Amino acid sequence: MATFSHESIEKNAGLMIVLIAIVVSIAGLVQLVPLFFDKATTQPIPGVKPYTALQLEGRDVYIAEGCYLCHSQMIRPLRAEVERYGHYSVAGESVYDHPFQWGSKRNGPDLARVGGKYSDEWQRIHLREPRDVVPESIMPAYPWLQHQPAHVADIQAKMRAMRMLGVPYTDQQIADAPKELEGKTREDALIAYLQSLGLALSNYKSKATYGGN
Ligand code: HEC
Repeated sequence: MATFSHESIEKNAGLMIVLIAIVVSIAGLVQLVPLFFDKATTQPIPGVKPYTALQLEGRDVYIAEGCYLCHSQMIRPLRAEVERYGHYSVAGESVYDHPFQWGSKRNGPDLARVGGKYSDEWQRIHLREPRDVVPESIMPAYPWLQHQPAHVADIQAKMRAMRMLGVPYTDQQIADAPKELEGKTREDALIAYLQSLGLALSNYKSKATYGGN
């Protein structure tokens, strides 16, 4: 009867599809589910803090302006990447990112560790007109951000939403948020966000940890 059942599965496309779907889902679950409980993927690494109100606002500017369409935030564990961008990205760096900005589109460089690479002033000039600091740049200019005030009205709601997703904001931080954004522009917020990226692991010596020479 063993031959009968095997043959009948092979000759019945519908049954084959259903059985393959079952096998693949079990295999997928076995790979995925443990990650939800593994500390390496759910706990922040030392030094990773929730975004400040201003940085969180800047992150929204980053998403709204579509920066992710050209920039990834995920350094892969390959020699060429580590040499260029620094320590490869680890899951514990993005536990407070909802949604994460890893991406794979790289018309521009990866930004996972751009925090502290340039001065605030450089970032400001670069956002207003990239070609003023990088003559061959093909990045679009974002001159309007300097004229638009940060969105004070909904920052507390955003922080509460993040808290529901597991970001440990305190009541005090949420209460102080509007004051932090007062008088700031969307450009200020975006720069604060960019300058915060990847700092926790930035001082890691990539060669020492990656074992390259
Ligand atoms: C059309 C593609 C494109 C878009 C959209 C884009 N960029 Fe860029 N970006 C680039 C390219 C190309 C470079 C490299 C040349 C340069 O430095 O200007 C770059 C460079 C950068 C750098 C310097 C990185 C480094 O390590 O030197 C930063 C920071 C940056 N972009 C931020 C942003 C932000 C923030 C936004 C959204 C407001 C954005 N980019 C949108 C293409 C893009």
